[in-house]
Amino acid sequence: MESESVKPNVPISIAREQQLIRLLMAYLIAGLLFMVLPGTFLGVWNLFAISNAQSATSVPAAWIQAHGHAQLFGWIGSFILGIGFYSIPNLRRVSAWSFWEGWLTWTLWTAGVTLRWLTDVYLWQWRILLPLSAVFEVLAVVLFLAQSIQGHRMQNKLKNGLEPWALLVVSGTVGLLITMIFNAFESFSLAVAGISPAFPAEFDGRFLILSIWAFPVLIAWGFTASWMPVFLGLKPLKSKLILAALAINVLGIIAALAKPLLASSILLLVGAICMVCALRMFERTEKPAKTQGVHKTFPLFIRIAYAWLLIASLFAVWAAIEPAAAGVAGAGRHAITVGFLMTMVFSVAPRMLPAFLGRKKLFSEHLMFLALLLTNIGCLMRVSSETLAYQHYASWAWSLLPISATLELSGVVVFTTNMVGTFFQPPLLAPIANKAAKEGYVK
Ligand code: HEM
Repeated sequence: MESESVKPNVPISIAREQQLIRLLMAYLIAGLLFMVLPGTFLGVWNLFAISNAQSATSVPAAWIQAHGHAQLFGWIGSFILGIGFYSIPNLRRVSAWSFWEGWLTWTLWTAGVTLRWLTDVYLWQWRILLPLSAVFEVLAVVLFLAQSIQGHRMQNKLKNGLEPWALLVVSGTVGLLITMIFNAFESFSLAVAGISPAFPAEFDGRFLILSIWAFPVLIAWGFTASWMPVFLGLKPLKSKLILAALAINVLGIIAALAKPLLASSILLLVGAICMVCALRMFERTEKPAKTQGVHKTFPLFIRIAYAWLLIASLFAVWAAIEPAAAGVAGAGRHAITVGFLMTMVFSVAPRMLPAFLGRKKLFSEHLMFLALLLTNIGCLMRVSSETLAYQHYASWAWSLLPISATLELSGVVVFTTNMVGTFFQPPLLAPIANKAAKEGYVK
């Protein structure tokens, strides 16, 4: 009887799906490792040193940049590339059986980010390894884009034009490529005529605006526009306002690169406000939120993330008005990286990844909540105490900084435990795959 055995085309698609899940898992594991060790651990170390010396300049710039690069590209970048490969429409048709392009991209990306971290921290052969790491990273993004374009081209034959969420995600991916080209340009310049692998402060400030606002922020907006109307029960998106927000954001980034920082920060703030309005994030919802499988505070934390985005944008304007105020710029950067990006990832990953990985459910809803709570309390403490301490408004605030770092580190460890627990959940496809293997369809 048909139902007793597996249909011939079913095992092939199951085997391909399992290959793709393995690829996604490799990106997620690399991302988690970058987040915990070179990213958060070094960030906490730096903050303890800064708090001890009561001076923001007590840590080498290269160490701070090593931390930032590991977090933005090692962690967030690996997650986005992995989810990107998994979600490329038609990848299962345009890619080879082994998805070798995905593995080559993973190898180049992981090697590039690791080399960059080692170069910044140990300074060993940095004139060769710094540009080499940048070349690896550019190649990885080019390969990813080539695959995405191929996959989307087939999709576009069926649909007319890109939906707003897809436009945001494509813009974010192009933003990543542009960021990596700037990174490579500066790395080569330093290798030829620099005195250390650390980007000079003037360039670094603008490079960070590009790295953050042109890449993960746009991708986060795209994912929100794609998934949150359903998950949060939001009213229909305002598509034209999304396009306006994207255009204003791009102008803000161009302004940062062209130097008028105040104009740039105001444009980025206006862009963020337009996006929040377009997503209708804080309006009364149309339908109840869907929280099965995740902690019931999921809709609250997504809104908290968007509140952090607005707070971060206001801090950026303040920092542009007072360019010498390192504490204000640092607090604003933390509000966007931890407050917005980390809260988004810690909320969205538990919602989406179990399904992507073919797992029955998230390991623990309580751990999801705990990770979000710890990082958000830590972030609140950090953003307020960094402004007070670095700007010498209150000396007692220096002692709060290590506490904030410890809370955030604990949140990161809890999130990682929850993700690893989810990876170890039994795969849903396992029984069918085993049956297919027994019938000789797949090895
Ligand atoms: C989880 C705990 C974290 C701690 C304790 C931490 C700590 C620090 C410290 C001490 C600095 C130096 C500048 C300053 O004092 O403000 C810094 C800068 C930075 N951090 Fe973090 N951070 C954390 C998380 C993150 C995350 C999640 C991201 C990104 C997703 C990130 C991205 C950055 C960036 C881009 C910089 C600026 C690097 C540069 O100047 O080039 N951080 N962080």
